[in-house]
Amino acid sequence: MQLPLLVKYQLAAIIFIIISLTKVTCLSFNFSTFERKDEDHLLLNNNSKIFSSAIQVTPDTRAQSIHNYSGRAFYNKPYKLWSQKKNQTASFNTTFVLNIDPQTTPAGGEGLAFILTSDTNLPENSSGEWLGIVNATSNGTSQAGILAVEFDTRNSFSQDGPDNHVGININSINSIKQAPLINTRVNLSSGEHVKIHIQYFNDTLSVFGAMDGASEESMETLLVSPPLNLSNYLQEEVYLGFSASTSNYTQLNCVRSWEFSGVDIADDDNKSLLWVYITVPIVIVIIIIGGMVVFFLYWQRKRHMEMPEDAYPRIEDQIQYSSMAPKKFELRKITKATGEFSPQNKLGEGGFGTVYKGLLDNKEVAVKRVSKNSRQGKQEFVAEVTTIGSLHHRNLVKLTGWCYEKRELLLVYEFMPKGSLDKYLFGDKIFGNNTLEEGCSSTLTWETRHSVIHGVAQALDYLHNGCEKRVLHRDIKASNIMLDSDYNAKLGDFGLARTIQQRNETHHSTKEIAGTPGYMAPETFLTGRATVETDVYAFGVLVLEVVCGRRPGSVYAQDDYKNSIVYWVWDLYGKEKVVGAVDARLKKEEIKEEEVECVLVLGLACCHPNPHHRPSMRTVLQVLNGEAPPPEVPMERPVFMWPAMPPSFKEAEDNSLIQGTLTHFTEFTGR
Ligand SMILES: *[C@@H]1O[C@H](CO)[C@@H](O)[C@H](O)[C@H]1NC(C)=O
Ligand SMILES: *[C@@H]1O[C@H](CO)[C@@H](O)[C@H](O)[C@H]1NC(C)=O
Ligand SMILES: *[C@@H]1O[C@H](CO)[C@@H](O)[C@H](O)[C@H]1NC(C)=O
Ligand SMILES: *[C@@H]1O[C@H](CO)[C@@H](O)[C@H](O)[C@H]1NC(C)=O
Ligand SMILES: *[C@@H]1O[C@H](CO)[C@@H](O)[C@H](O)[C@H]1NC(C)=O
Ligand SMILES: *[C@@H]1O[C@H](CO)[C@@H](O)[C@H](O)[C@H]1NC(C)=O
Ligand SMILES: *[C@@H]1O[C@H](CO)[C@@H](O)[C@H](O)[C@H]1NC(C)=O
Repeated sequence: MQLPLLVKYQLAAIIFIIISLTKVTCLSFNFSTFERKDEDHLLLNNNSKIFSSAIQVTPDTRAQSIHNYSGRAFYNKPYKLWSQKKNQTASFNTTFVLNIDPQTTPAGGEGLAFILTSDTNLPENSSGEWLGIVNATSNGTSQAGILAVEFDTRNSFSQDGPDNHVGININSINSIKQAPLINTRVNLSSGEHVKIHIQYFNDTLSVFGAMDGASEESMETLLVSPPLNLSNYLQEEVYLGFSASTSNYTQLNCVRSWEFSGVDIADDDNKSLLWVYITVPIVIVIIIIGGMVVFFLYWQRKRHMEMPEDAYPRIEDQIQYSSMAPKKFELRKITKATGEFSPQNKLGEGGFGTVYKGLLDNKEVAVKRVSKNSRQGKQEFVAEVTTIGSLHHRNLVKLTGWCYEKRELLLVYEFMPKGSLDKYLFGDKIFGNNTLEEGCSSTLTWETRHSVIHGVAQALDYLHNGCEKRVLHRDIKASNIMLDSDYNAKLGDFGLARTIQQRNETHHSTKEIAGTPGYMAPETFLTGRATVETDVYAFGVLVLEVVCGRRPGSVYAQDDYKNSIVYWVWDLYGKEKVVGAVDARLKKEEIKEEEVECVLVLGLACCHPNPHHRPSMRTVLQVLNGEAPPPEVPMERPVFMWPAMPPSFKEAEDNSLIQGTLTHFTEFTGR
């Protein structure tokens, strides 16, 4: 639903009320023909009947004489003609079709009249020349209280007009104004339908007529009254109707159709309208209240629908407070840059979103669109913006901006032309997040692999030791290592990353296990904690992967470490054949055996089941730079024991080891 619709609904209701109000203050009716049921709406005196689809104002019967009759027929509701209180007179239009059928010659008799009177009773002895208007007693007296427009077919007495004439009579059978119809096309006693239109407006009564069936334009002006102040003669309320009579001379006096519409000038205290003054305000109030209820529901729904927008109310605060926050982009701009997130621009799909390629400010970018359905989405979004956003290292994927608008969580990164590392390591198809991607056919040289390992080590050393706050990446794996155009490794996807505020805190406690199976240190499953050492373990797995070109192990078997790359390499190391683990796709001549062995041993050292025995990233770097020998690694993979035994010695930089077990630190935004 939309608000304009509601407004329309309200307007329609108000218009409806206005219309019904005007209808009530107006009297209007339309009988296109008369049927027996219409008697309910009419007041017919004894001599009047509905017969042959018409009102027979005087009888139409073959069974008995129709001589010497008079009759009256009225609409059953009164009409307010004038108001003394308001000093106002009404105006009306009425149209009817007469049929006067002479039964005697010459010209039949007596006539038919349209009347306005407050007395619906037929006067006694009003037949013959009296036309049902008055009788000998009331004729010419104000008690008569009647206005008649007579359609006379017979000259009954000397003052009466010619046989075929129209007259206006007030309280009398004598007309105050009359007009012969000799010069018109209207012949009242022709037995044909005659259409009459009477208009009362501005104290003037006008009579128009034509033979029925003729066009509207052919209506002729039969008679126009002089100024006629009806309030001088009639009651305020009058009934509208017809009267007619017969004498020795007879005719059938029929009204075949009748239409009336008049402006009412109802007084405020008019009882018949009282209900209107009660009902209308009630209806208006009901409509207003109904409208408010509907609006309220609409507003509630709208609010509810917008709720998710406010679901992360503090997201901006959280981001803004973090120092060196990256640029905030407008959604409009990013949508345009990615071709409205066109599937053609899709680079890949990750755990909590889809990555698109885009062109923003003439620079290629990768846009991560965090899935709206991801429950973790917001936390990961904030983690990513606040951690990677404030970090700057040549081996970290650069986050250039972010956007949070209309429930869309978007991250904008520098574009990595060569994609992720995993595509180059595994020649076959890659399993990951339910999508099957083509592996990259071209493999990496030993030199490139070494530089990748070195780059990742530098990035991790920077995260663990180099920046202001210690950052745990928590999700180091081949698919999170991106390669730029020169195959320089850049660590990306900081969705699980956590900063550790104080340098003496070494781990981040989690309530659920986060990370990727195969890269997770054995103790993670027991402690559920991320530590510097768990990052080092994952790095060790990555090193073995890069050198061997093999997957870390059964991705879904978290406890099945026997199948993992770590076991496999360690086994070869025990047999002093560790160099045999190297990727078969590497050319023999480009490999320096001692360098390969050194890197593999370093990888194994990082994967030591006892976290205390894993080297720090600082040490790893020294080994890779050739500044230190690789750490000593037992010939057989030690059995994982927990709690882990502390080593007898401790590296100076490594501050993670205190008193035998990993010390429990204050929890920090647990997830
Ligand atoms: C009609 O009334 C007149 C008198 O007003 C009378 O002379 C005449 O006989 C009556 N006609 C009939 C048919 O009753
Ligand atoms: C009533 O209105 C008419 C004009 O419409 C005016 O001439 C007359 O004086 C008014 N009468 C009263 C009592 O206000
Ligand atoms: C009567 O009809 C005339 C002409 O059609 C019109 O202007 C006038 O408003 C009508 N009056 C009423 C009360 O309907
Ligand atoms: C005229 O009609 C009135 C009322 O209907 C009645 O009282 C009176 O007697 C009648 N006059 C004659 C002459 O019949
Ligand atoms: C009116 O019509 C009747 C019947 O057709 C005819 O006798 C009469 O002469 C006509 N009157 C006029 C004035 O045309
Ligand atoms: C009509 O007559 C009444 C009563 O005599 C008078 O109050 C009113 O002003 C008159 N109206 C006009 C328009 O002359
Ligand atoms: C009506 O006709 C009768 C004879 O039938 C006659 O006596 C009477 O005077 C006539 N009445 C009139 C008003 O013409």
